[in-house]
Amino acid sequence: MIRFLMNQTLREEDSISPNLTVLNYLREHVRKTGTKEGCGSGDCGACTVVLGEVMNGRLQYRSVNACLTFVSALHGKQLITVEDLKDGSSLHPVQKAMVEFHGSQCGYCTPGFIMSMFALTKNKPLADKEDVFEALAGNLCRCTGYRPIVEASLSLSQNQPIRDQFADYEKQTVARLEAIGAPDVEHSADGKSVFTPTNSDDLASILIEHPDARMVAGGTDLALEVTQFHREIPKLVYLGR
Ligand code: FES
Ligand code: FES
Repeated sequence: MIRFLMNQTLREEDSISPNLTVLNYLREHVRKTGTKEGCGSGDCGACTVVLGEVMNGRLQYRSVNACLTFVSALHGKQLITVEDLKDGSSLHPVQKAMVEFHGSQCGYCTPGFIMSMFALTKNKPLADKEDVFEALAGNLCRCTGYRPIVEASLSLSQNQPIRDQFADYEKQTVARLEAIGAPDVEHSADGKSVFTPTNSDDLASILIEHPDARMVAGGTDLALEVTQFHREIPKLVYLGR
């Protein structure tokens, strides 16, 4: 069973293939299509989503490529997609900035940029130009020429973190993520398994028992076997815990 928060909604998935990427999960299983597929290989950033994780009692946010992340990596985390940023009928400050600075033309890259910018506002509220370049380095846009996007991102730079619904609900989110608990050591579905050791002794035991298992951390290379070569990986060992 893989348990995680989709924004604030608990998802419990026991029949999801360990080879399924977060991108395909979102678009094909949940029908959330705001997250786009551009390259499917970690190069364009159109699929960027943000993961919230508890570190020392606080939420830490990380932007990731959904096309290279297997769903098993979501256990115990908060998955935030572009659909989650609006608060009622109000756009999130990041979205407003993109509108005000004309940072979107065809719009295909926009959800990915928005999510990278959102993660930056959380991780480094007082970001300078270098921080913005670094945060957006994984996002490609073929229309705007980048200047309006960079200016939109710089306009959000301030001393204090942006007040938004994620900040307002941080305590509750931390409590709900902590309540999810440790992952199952083995999750199997669709004839495949993913093992999630939480210490090096368990990792060693799993590898002795399953020497043919492939280890996955970020998935930058390994996920391409699934997304680009359409191979199946029967046994994965997720090292993120
Ligand atoms: S779709 Fe291009 S990085 Fe994921
Ligand atoms: S606005 Fe068209 S690719 Fe960025």
